[in-house]
Amino acid sequence: MLGLKLPTDPRWVNIVEKNLEEILTDHAFCEQKAASTAISFIVQFPEHTELVQEMTALVKEEISHFKMVHDKIVARGWVLGRDRKDEYVNKLMTFFPKGGSRTEFLVNRLLYAALIEARSCERFRLLSQELKEAELREFYRNLMVSEANHYTMFLGFARKYQDVDIVNKKWQDLLEFEGQIMKDLGKQETIHG
Ligand SMILES: [Fe+2]
Ligand SMILES: [Fe+2]
Repeated sequence: MLGLKLPTDPRWVNIVEKNLEEILTDHAFCEQKAASTAISFIVQFPEHTELVQEMTALVKEEISHFKMVHDKIVARGWVLGRDRKDEYVNKLMTFFPKGGSRTEFLVNRLLYAALIEARSCERFRLLSQELKEAELREFYRNLMVSEANHYTMFLGFARKYQDVDIVNKKWQDLLEFEGQIMKDLGKQETIHG
C-alpha cells in the first residue's frame, strides 16, 4: 500500500486505544503542521503558480482537519495540550543532504511531504479498521481518503519539477530509509510514533 516498505503492527492500535486523549492531541498538531507546511511551500516557492494554487487549497483543508480533531477533543471535555515531539518526522527529514539547487530543495521537500502523508494515511487506515468506537472509525476512514489524495498530489508535483527517473530513484531510497525508521516505532500513542 502506498509503496511503504514496512506496515505498522496492528497492535499499535491497542496502545492508541488506551490513551485516546494523547493520540487526538498529537493528531491535532499533525494537521496543524500539515497546514503550516502548505503555507511554507507558498512562501518559499511563489514562482510555481500551480503549486501555490494547490497549497492554498491544502492550507484550508488541513486546517479544517485540525478543527475536526479539535472538536473531538472539546466534545470529550478535554483541552488541547501542548505539541508533541515528532521523532519520526525529525528523523525522516535528515535523509536528503543539505545544500543543492533550489529545484533539488523543492523536490526533496515534496517527497518528505508525500511520505508523511502516505504514512499518516496508513495509520489512519488501521485506526479506521481497528478502533472500537464506530464514530472514530468513520472519522479516520474519511481522513484516510484525504491524506491518500495529498500523497498523490505531492508525489505528482515532485515528478513535475525534476526528471522523473531521478525523482523515482530518490523516492525509492526515501521509502527504504523510512522503513528502517519504522522498525523502532509503532509503540507510542502518537500518529507516527
Ligand atoms: Fe490532514
Ligand atoms: Fe494531508
